[in-house]
Amino acid sequence: MKKYLQENKEIFEKYLKERLDKLNCGYEPIATAVKYALDGGKRIRPILCILGAEFMGKSFDSVKDLALGMECIHNYSLCHDDLPCMDNDDLRHGKPSTHKKFGEGMGVLTGDALLNLAFEIMLDGDRSFVHYKAVNYIAKMSGIYGMVGGQCIDIAQDEFRQKSLEEVITLNMLKTSCLFKAALAGSAISLGANAQEIASLELYAQKIGLIFQIVDDILDVTSNSEVLGKNINSDIKANKTTYLSICGMEKAKQDIDNLEIEAISAVAKYGDRAAKLIELAKYLTNRSK
Ligand code: IPE
Ligand code: IPE
Ligand code: MG
Ligand code: MG
Ligand code: MG
Repeated sequence: MKKYLQENKEIFEKYLKERLDKLNCGYEPIATAVKYALDGGKRIRPILCILGAEFMGKSFDSVKDLALGMECIHNYSLCHDDLPCMDNDDLRHGKPSTHKKFGEGMGVLTGDALLNLAFEIMLDGDRSFVHYKAVNYIAKMSGIYGMVGGQCIDIAQDEFRQKSLEEVITLNMLKTSCLFKAALAGSAISLGANAQEIASLELYAQKIGLIFQIVDDILDVTSNSEVLGKNINSDIKANKTTYLSICGMEKAKQDIDNLEIEAISAVAKYGDRAAKLIELAKYLTNRSK
């Protein structure tokens, strides 16, 4: 899986560079900031787009603009997530976060620019009906019914009100699983997936998104900033209620293992078509960065 992830990361980054080189912008500083924000990271969401395409018997080429759009949406969410009014983190992808580098105003605007760029890229040119349906789905999963909704629940907290486990699960599904669903089920939708296939991919993505966020919370206390490329102990400093802070390490790890089983059983019936998805679920359970 490691090799698969690395190869597909490279394929994606080659296309990203090609598109960014052509980015024509009236005001150079925003283009510079957009490129800066898009530089770095594991590229999990574009890889989920590729996995969605492969599930449908296709390859990167058929979903490359959705992959690019998803990475723009993801990095917009990070630009805003790091702002002083949200998580107030000054390190991202091993370098100063966008607002630290270019100022707070540009941090906000770079996020805005990335969000618009995502939809420009995904909608440019003539597209099929199912492609438009996929972009509509991605919009919903990224906005108030999805990632933005989750981020709202995430910041709705102070020292007088801690969240329940149920709320934390909901917020993790919204802020993290929904972009995983957008990438994986979105790309399958764009290639004509049927209702049953979409439902299976959505369930799988929901489970691996939960795994991904709980592991992120764990790494925030067990890893270091050189490996992660972001500051550690960010959640504790911000007094965040996380899955880990409620359940403790042992139960959190046990629940991750159960989520892995649930993720796998969501797609196991597809046999070879789901082989890579099953490998990915196992990989994400054990990731260290
Ligand atoms: C970070 O996502 C935000 C979360 C959902 C935890 P990634 O870990 O995928 O970010 P990259 O790889 O640094 O871009
Ligand atoms: C962020 O979750 C999820 C987003 C939608 C950006 P975190 O706040 O835990 O992500 P990191 O740890 O800053 O990457
Ligand atoms: Mg956050
Ligand atoms: Mg954060
Ligand atoms: Mg985190």
